[in-house]
Amino acid sequence: MQAAWAALQAHQREIGGLHMREIFASDSDRSRRYRLEACGLFLDYSKHRISEATLSGLKALAAAAGLEQWIGRLFSGEAVNNTEGRAALHPALRHLGMDAFPGHGSDVMPEVRATRDKMRKFCRRVRGGRWRGLTERPLDTVVCLGIGGSSLGPAMACAALEVNADAGLALHFVSDLDGAALDRVLSKCAPERTMFIVASKSFGTEETLTNARSARSWLESRLGGNGDSTARHFVAVTAKPSVAVEFGIDPANVFEIWDWVGGRYSLWSAVGLPLALQIGMDQFEAMLSGAAEMDQHFVSAPPGDNMPVILALLEVWYRDFFAAPSRAVLPYDHALRRFPEYLQQLEMESNGKRVARTGEPLSQPSAPVVWGGPGIDGQHAFFQLLHQGGTLIPSDFILPLQSQRPLAGHHEALVSNALAQTRVLMRGRTEEEVERALEQEGFRGNGLDSLLPHRVLPGNQPSSLLMYECLDPRTLGALAALYEHKVFVESVIWQNNPFDQFGVEMGKVLAKRIRPAVAEALKPAPGENGSLSRRIDRLLAACPPMDE
Ligand code: F6P
Repeated sequence: MQAAWAALQAHQREIGGLHMREIFASDSDRSRRYRLEACGLFLDYSKHRISEATLSGLKALAAAAGLEQWIGRLFSGEAVNNTEGRAALHPALRHLGMDAFPGHGSDVMPEVRATRDKMRKFCRRVRGGRWRGLTERPLDTVVCLGIGGSSLGPAMACAALEVNADAGLALHFVSDLDGAALDRVLSKCAPERTMFIVASKSFGTEETLTNARSARSWLESRLGGNGDSTARHFVAVTAKPSVAVEFGIDPANVFEIWDWVGGRYSLWSAVGLPLALQIGMDQFEAMLSGAAEMDQHFVSAPPGDNMPVILALLEVWYRDFFAAPSRAVLPYDHALRRFPEYLQQLEMESNGKRVARTGEPLSQPSAPVVWGGPGIDGQHAFFQLLHQGGTLIPSDFILPLQSQRPLAGHHEALVSNALAQTRVLMRGRTEEEVERALEQEGFRGNGLDSLLPHRVLPGNQPSSLLMYECLDPRTLGALAALYEHKVFVESVIWQNNPFDQFGVEMGKVLAKRIRPAVAEALKPAPGENGSLSRRIDRLLAACPPMDE
């Protein structure tokens, strides 16, 4: 692998200083070559600081890292999550065939199919108004309690496919521990018509359990029923069914996931139940089929034609050879407004690692910071920094050919903006171009000179353009699976385990330990006369920077 890294470093020294204007001038055909189509997605990756030699070098790096073998290990159910001794079999969750998965070894499909069947029956009853609460009224409001991977995927997908909602259910997601988040939602709910889905793989996450307990008290104080209200109105999705049952949830209403389903890879499991309720099980399975198609593409397409591989190679190129600190995700599709935060967990919790699988320190940086938001809003907020901030920030533009909810005149304006931005980010605006423009506006001499540097756009900011016809369940499945596999390819090159997240544990433990002292400090002390700084001093003393 070292030889492949060294060759790419030498190559970067040769072409790293080139401007994409020069690259396009000497390779006018690149828009035709640097494009891929798969699973209803089209990727234009011509606006990158790459040449054929770059791609060959990156493919050689991936091959030296053993990409092909690692894909085999992932799909054959090997314990690729080596620190926890688990497989990462999320592709099985979207396997719709009747055969075994993985093909050899212990087949997980019987339990996957049984849970899907249970979801189908449950969705039919709830969506058909036949699931009755304690007062025998049908439940038409669903409050989803969960955090991280037990919330971001379904919340993103429910927003993305709201247009497919056809059962008249109102869905709310609460992940925040601030009581205001739950209270705000509950204040809009009628207890006799409200169902709670508690999604937690561990059924031990403080945020989720605190919200679930408060929701249970809210319900029981209004409906009574001696625990029956919890049994009739609560549903759990978890890998710890017995703990959910102890909480008071009817075993018949517990949907199982397994230790081989990572939280941030769990949208395809019963964690996706809110989405299945919103759009129905057939449409949910259409989303699974889009993801399964992407799985097939990933395992079968050669690296140069493989969309997840290409996206991963580009990430590695900028992160490790240009030290790009971040990547922006910019959907020009209102449906994908929650996609950037979903990707934040997927990418940063997976590959935000400093050591290799072996425990040795990584010799190069892994995941960049992933950030973003709806592109059109960003244009009026953070795009200034992309254009003139002086930091290399590659971006993903995500763009449908058709809006899910067309209104005359909107979509062509939206698309024009997206395309214009990718071109301006690539090309920039030279001094000469600015000078000519200022002259046309009537500026001369000092007036022109003083404005000129402010109007120059350096350009050379790379972007990928991902397009599709119109966001539907199948396309969404393909899109999310595309990024899952991109993350996996990167982890193979960086050699880290993308399926654990030990970094987040210590903060949780400490928060639990200091909680009694914090509770004490939050109470106003006699004689303090409401002094903010004295109260804050007491609070900070509950968590001194170093152990006393
Ligand atoms: O704290 C991180 C994390 O463990 C995520 O990886 C996970 O998605 C989230 O918490 C929620 O965990 P659980 O589903 O066990 O409540």
